[in-house]
Amino acid sequence: MIRAGATTLGDIVNRATATLAAIAVTAAATLIATAVTQTVAVAPAHALDDGQARTPPMGFNNWNTTGCAIDENLIIATADIFVSSGLAAAGYTYVNIDDCWAAPDRDPATGRLVPRPDTFPHGIKWLADYVHGKGLKLGIYTSAGTLTCARTMPGSLGHEEVDAQTFADWGVDYLKYDNCNNEGVPAIQRYTAMRDALRRTGRPIVYSICEWGQNKPWEWATEVGHLWRTTGDISDTWTSMVGLFKANAPLAPHAGPGHWNDPDMLEVGNGGMTDAEYRSHFSLWAMMAAPLLIGSDLRRATPRTLEILGNRDLIAVDQDRLGAQATVLSSVDGHWVLRKPLAGGDVAVALFNESDTAATIATTATAVGLPRRPAYRIRDLWRHETAHTAGTIAAKVPAHGTVAYRVSANGAWWRQPAQTVAGIDVPSGVTGVPGMITPPGEPSEVTATGTNHGRLAVRDARLRLNAPAGWAVEPVTAGRARVLRTDQSVTATWRVTPPAGTAPGELPLTATLHSEQPGFPRRTTSVTTDVRVPAAAPTGTVDLGDHPWTAMTNGYGPAERNTSNGGPKPGDGLPMVINGVPYAKGVGTHAPAQLVYFVGRRCTSLSLLVGIDDDRDDARRTGSSTFEIWADGVRVADSGLRTWADPALPLTADVTGARYVRLVQTIGGDTNSYDRGDWAEPRLVC
Ligand code: GLA
Repeated sequence: MIRAGATTLGDIVNRATATLAAIAVTAAATLIATAVTQTVAVAPAHALDDGQARTPPMGFNNWNTTGCAIDENLIIATADIFVSSGLAAAGYTYVNIDDCWAAPDRDPATGRLVPRPDTFPHGIKWLADYVHGKGLKLGIYTSAGTLTCARTMPGSLGHEEVDAQTFADWGVDYLKYDNCNNEGVPAIQRYTAMRDALRRTGRPIVYSICEWGQNKPWEWATEVGHLWRTTGDISDTWTSMVGLFKANAPLAPHAGPGHWNDPDMLEVGNGGMTDAEYRSHFSLWAMMAAPLLIGSDLRRATPRTLEILGNRDLIAVDQDRLGAQATVLSSVDGHWVLRKPLAGGDVAVALFNESDTAATIATTATAVGLPRRPAYRIRDLWRHETAHTAGTIAAKVPAHGTVAYRVSANGAWWRQPAQTVAGIDVPSGVTGVPGMITPPGEPSEVTATGTNHGRLAVRDARLRLNAPAGWAVEPVTAGRARVLRTDQSVTATWRVTPPAGTAPGELPLTATLHSEQPGFPRRTTSVTTDVRVPAAAPTGTVDLGDHPWTAMTNGYGPAERNTSNGGPKPGDGLPMVINGVPYAKGVGTHAPAQLVYFVGRRCTSLSLLVGIDDDRDDARRTGSSTFEIWADGVRVADSGLRTWADPALPLTADVTGARYVRLVQTIGGDTNSYDRGDWAEPRLVC
């Protein structure tokens, strides 16, 4: 897979790869069977138990941020920042170079790979010395093929000995070995050849197998590499990240010290996901004992990115010496509970909310495998606070968020305060829209709950709500309780009104539970949710291509105005074309998608043309969707199934009296591959 493809096609490519992989696995079954015999003949089976990668490798790789545009300056800067930012002290060690570092031709005299003189003028040995001088390690890349994936440099197939020796001579500590241009040679044979060549150099080099899970490396690579990719390439989108998590999670039994499942490198900080989604990405990778290879440019990292990557509580979970990968306890309605046993008997628990609305996700200490005790120590791995729980392990988890805990049956639980948690319930409001929308001047009801999970009672529990300055907050029911015993809650409701004229945007509402516990400082637990203030309802006839939506969910990066959806980044669409006919105005989405417009009962009808966008690639021939218009909770127009072969279909809907109009594009019953939808010439009459 070449990055040019991955950048534009992202998760779709991954999906296609997964499908191809499934086919390839069946087709390759015979090949693998042959290869296994060959492997046994070439090298007697023995675990790659050489003391390396006893915990999942941590470091950096440039591919997710620069693609082919790699040079020594980035490697030097990253090594410097590892040290100056504290990331090195937190465990990040390997600074890895991906594809495109070598010149197109080998040295004619020695047959060795040659670093590109323009981008690596000092050579790799010099760079390795620099990185080692910082107390760090250097990684490099090539492919088990004739060329690498970007096809700009030679691969190592048939050159394993000379390349392994070159890397060792340069002082390289880590090799990522890719799968492109492999001439159909069986994977086990290709990856074993490099393993043996590396071993013969005598230099310890961590060996990362990158064959995308196509030949089920988890079944054979324990003896071959220290880690193996289990999936196609990640892209910087929620859909891609969750897809890789779901593919990698069931492979838990195959991971352990010295042999790790690799669901690909981190995207944290690259801009295509929200901070909550990046925290989920980081939590899930740590729970899965995945390699933690930073994939963003640290020269531009925000404090929030550094805080996520530097979370030592979660790094300790990833790096736990037991080396167990988390298993899934439950995943009903996208409410995931994962458990990872840790050395010494503690258990890490992640409550991951894949769904689009906040939810309480709960389990218990005994359900995650801890012995029965009167209470347990529980540490919140994002808030970095320790408390005790009588056994409930729960949290109100925001949409796409993750709450992670470390729970312990050992030690003096009574030295910790009782765990109190707070949650905000926003009104269901607009059907199907995550979060709360509060039009200026209109009251909305907000309910908060505070719960004591401790064995010991808490006293004088009070809930408070903080809204942005100028907003009216009137109590509807009081949130006070003289005492809260184990698992008891207090609830309060407020009527919240943003003043007329409030500018559109997302603003925080914070609920705080205050409580007293004898022997402990007064405890406050807060939870914040963002509420959305919409732009004023439209007047006259509006082209939705020029009008901001109030809320958007989209299957591939953001939706776009007046272009097709394009790829994962904002503003990367193309002119809209449905079945050869171009349209200048409208919105471009990618299933599953929903655009919400606040119209405040002011509008009467919406008419537009819908269809699958022609896009830029012949592979679009899989795109199919339904296009629906909703007026509040009622579906007022439905296109039926439209495929890439259909012409644009006119739809007209009566939206009289609706507060919200929604455009919904479904995946049409199959996968969402190439489901780029156009809503052309949308006229809203108000
Ligand atoms: C493949 C790999 C990626 C990256 C690129 C480089 O797609 O899976 O991780 O190394 O090649 O071209």
